[in-house]
Amino acid sequence: MSVAQLTLDPAYVIAPVDRRLFGSFVEHMGRCVYTGIFEPGHPAADADGLRTDVLELVRELGVTTVRYPGGNFVSNYRWEDGVGPAAQRPRRLDLAWRSVESNAFGLNEFMRWATAAGVEPMMAVNLGTRGVDDAAALVEYCNLAEGTAISDRRREHGVAKPHDVRLWCLGNEMDGPWQVGRMTAREYGRLASRAGSAMKKVDPGIELVACGSSNADMPTFAAWEATVLEEAYDQVDYLSLHQYYDPEKDDPASFRASAYGLDGFISDVIATADHVRAKLRRTKRINLALDEWNVWYQSRFTEPEDRGIEDTPELIEDEYDVTDAMVVGNLLISMLRHADRLTIGCQAQLVNVIAPIRTQKGGPAWRQTTFHPFAHTARLARGTVLRAAVTSPLMATGRYGDVPAVDAIATHDPESGALSVFAVNRGTEQIRLDLDLRAFPKHRPGDHLWMAEGATTEPLTQSGGTSVALPPLSWHALTFEEQR
Ligand code: AHR
Repeated sequence: MSVAQLTLDPAYVIAPVDRRLFGSFVEHMGRCVYTGIFEPGHPAADADGLRTDVLELVRELGVTTVRYPGGNFVSNYRWEDGVGPAAQRPRRLDLAWRSVESNAFGLNEFMRWATAAGVEPMMAVNLGTRGVDDAAALVEYCNLAEGTAISDRRREHGVAKPHDVRLWCLGNEMDGPWQVGRMTAREYGRLASRAGSAMKKVDPGIELVACGSSNADMPTFAAWEATVLEEAYDQVDYLSLHQYYDPEKDDPASFRASAYGLDGFISDVIATADHVRAKLRRTKRINLALDEWNVWYQSRFTEPEDRGIEDTPELIEDEYDVTDAMVVGNLLISMLRHADRLTIGCQAQLVNVIAPIRTQKGGPAWRQTTFHPFAHTARLARGTVLRAAVTSPLMATGRYGDVPAVDAIATHDPESGALSVFAVNRGTEQIRLDLDLRAFPKHRPGDHLWMAEGATTEPLTQSGGTSVALPPLSWHALTFEEQR
């Protein structure tokens, strides 16, 4: 059997594990909101129409931060339509997904849901069809206590305490030809700078995310990031990255090595942000928000223009296998590896739409395979991320050339002593992974959780060890406890 080796040392710390890495995304798209998280009349719905069966799964998933309300949807959204008496809210045509938006669920319902789910809200403002004035007004509605027409409106709507939203996205994918109100990098950078500074005048404590490229394959990638930051460096705190991996786009090996591609993408965005920092002679560093990522069978997607207008269409309700779950687990490994600069991650999306949680209208809610690596990584990745020295057999891919078949990362919580190792075998041969834990002499193996294509669709648990067999196409979490 081929052998891979992983060496760990508690002294080689990358960064603390930022809990915001385990975020997700709720967009008014398909059935994410309606019949996903919100379904008045459902047997499990509470008095506000929130599905408590879904809330339970969201808590089990361990999601920390949830981006809302889009996505492409936000670029033609009027947030005012979704506040105030529900009976008076307008039905609108949403141009992004060509759906009818009832506005039965809006900002205050989302905040109630976020409190019930125990997550931090991450709001996006519309910079597609709207601009500075509306963005600042939305911050005022959410965060100002009282005493102005806009903050008092929130109080009239029955919300006395401000929502106190810290994280804000300045638009969505503004480079995309599909985006309502798409702009050039220069136009967007200037608008982001003006909107951002007005929003920070309302509440100087907020954190702003500027749109990076819609994905690493955009023809303007990197030039877009550089221009946007040249315009908005002083106003913004984060630059966004979006990336979806399609199992049917390239050869299967390239899909299985998606995290290798993500590693390169993240490094390129860090280099670009730091280039602008040097050019502008600033000391502040811009951190990264991977605020849309996932596996998405995108080649099966029907463009909105090729569909009729519907109320709550079933959009991109992809079903995932264990290889998809392995890729999701590996993408989380890549994110942890960059925890010194990548501090926000939002898996897109949370329910029904390319999601770990699925629901049936009027029926049950259930976990997809991709639920498990996310839930266990969010639960076990605590304390600090450790640099992992891995030697592994190589595998050939069409897109990236030869890449290591085994990838891994570890976290160590100095307080509790807990050590967790996350590993994948993305190759098609079984590999033995030997762990060199000489720097952790007091640690003893705990559990070994794993999933492998063809073996199981839910994680199996067995006793761990320092030498473990990694079946082909498998994801693993190993825990070690310190004897004190
Ligand atoms: O998550 C689905 C869509 O993908 C989002 O609305 C958009 O931002 C991205 O292109």
